[in-house]
Amino acid sequence: MEQTLAIIKPDAVERNLIGQILERIESRGFRIVAMKRALLTLAQAEAFYHVHKERPFFGELTQYMCSGPVVLLTLERENAIAAWRELMGATNPQEAAEGTIRKDFAINLEKNSAHGSDAPDTAAFEIPFFFNKLEIQG
Ligand code: CMP
Repeated sequence: MEQTLAIIKPDAVERNLIGQILERIESRGFRIVAMKRALLTLAQAEAFYHVHKERPFFGELTQYMCSGPVVLLTLERENAIAAWRELMGATNPQEAAEGTIRKDFAINLEKNSAHGSDAPDTAAFEIPFFFNKLEIQG
């Protein structure tokens, strides 16, 4: 079993898409082993996305991620990291496959409705960034 960090981003929370996204997650065989709704501070968004801090979009990305509440999740499944990335679709919704979350719900590259860890070392940083061990129950 593998775990990954998922975020339902502010654009999706604002448009009442939490339930539809959770339904897709559960019906694809993921266990939601931790979940909470939160409004991130700018400092938290900057620390979470620190790997992107030299990228030109870092300022807009971090401002956006604290512009409204998000839903933070830890998902568990075999091959969870790749499976969640497949279910989300490509980062840019214009390139996302039919039937993916970003194809169906995302507005643009920034407001792309969902985030997921991209590798095991990223998940190992991202999951404990938001959840302590007591909050993660399989
Ligand atoms: P996410 O998977 O959360 O990881 C970083 C985010 O930066 C990404 O989704 C996009 O929403 C956002 N982003 C904005 N501009 C770009 C870009 N040019 N390339 C990649 N990601 C971008």
